[in-house]
Amino acid sequence: MKKIILDCDPGHDDMVAIILACASDGLDILGITTVAGNQTGDKTLLNALKTLTLIGEKNIPVAGGFDRPLTGKLVTAPHIHGLSGLDGADLPDPEIKPLKIHAVDFIELTLMKADEKVTVIATGPLTNIAVLLLKSAQIKEKIERIIIMGGAVYESNITPSAEFNIYVDPEAAGIVLNSGIPVTMVTLDVSNKAIFTLEDIDNIKSLNGKVSRVVSGLLRFFAEANIKSFGFEGAPLHDPITVAYAVDPDIIETELYHVDIETKGEYTRGKTVVDVYGVTKKNTNAEISVSLDLARYKDLITGAVKKFD
Ligand code: BDR
Ligand code: CA
Repeated sequence: MKKIILDCDPGHDDMVAIILACASDGLDILGITTVAGNQTGDKTLLNALKTLTLIGEKNIPVAGGFDRPLTGKLVTAPHIHGLSGLDGADLPDPEIKPLKIHAVDFIELTLMKADEKVTVIATGPLTNIAVLLLKSAQIKEKIERIIIMGGAVYESNITPSAEFNIYVDPEAAGIVLNSGIPVTMVTLDVSNKAIFTLEDIDNIKSLNGKVSRVVSGLLRFFAEANIKSFGFEGAPLHDPITVAYAVDPDIIETELYHVDIETKGEYTRGKTVVDVYGVTKKNTNAEISVSLDLARYKDLITGAVKKFD
């Protein structure tokens, strides 16, 4: 089984990423950690606990992390995820408690005691992961790969040049990309096409179980926000692609490029500058997603929700 840690900022698509990870027999989840992003840190932590309660997963350690980026003020996404970070349906009150240690300390301790390398999946701003890498020099050897949802070659969603997760904490993203650890970057170029249409969401609703009813309500809210903001045809499920890739790397095609993170530009802060033509001659540092098997992806997600009904 592949050992993973999932660092997230739930968030509708993070919520589905948690459900997919928990449903996947091939993954051993060592812990779930949260970071501020889609909403403030207290809300993303609460949403992770509620999601796990919804699906009856009471034994996965959860730890809350940073509530602001390395520099500057936190930017959140209430226009996409609502004021709770998970608007659209009522989730149960948490029946589990977070650990009393900080996410970064939890990840460090967990990695150091792991008997094999661990895959870190990050579906929010990279603050926790960057601080972990700054804090411990030995930690790199314990990480198999960091799979992030963030950035794009062409697309953007929070400014005309940046994707949300990278934009919230570009300095952190720079630290992760320059760490020398293998990185896979699931980009908006692919995830904006991972659309669950209103019909797909109705199909989940028609499963009519305790989890599918809640998840379909949440996805409907997320879809409507994306239809309004971007003119999409439904809900782009960005984050679960990272988990799907951990389960089955063939679900996306990737290409290896050098990526720099713009931290200074007046209009371009948070842009992932991907050297597609190799013009900089810099060493490659990330596998970048270029396509997704959407039909298989939809089946995986629907199957995961069904499993917990
Ligand atoms: C990313 O931003 C967040 O709003 C989503 O949860 C996803 O991680 C997409 O740009
Ligand atoms: Ca996210």
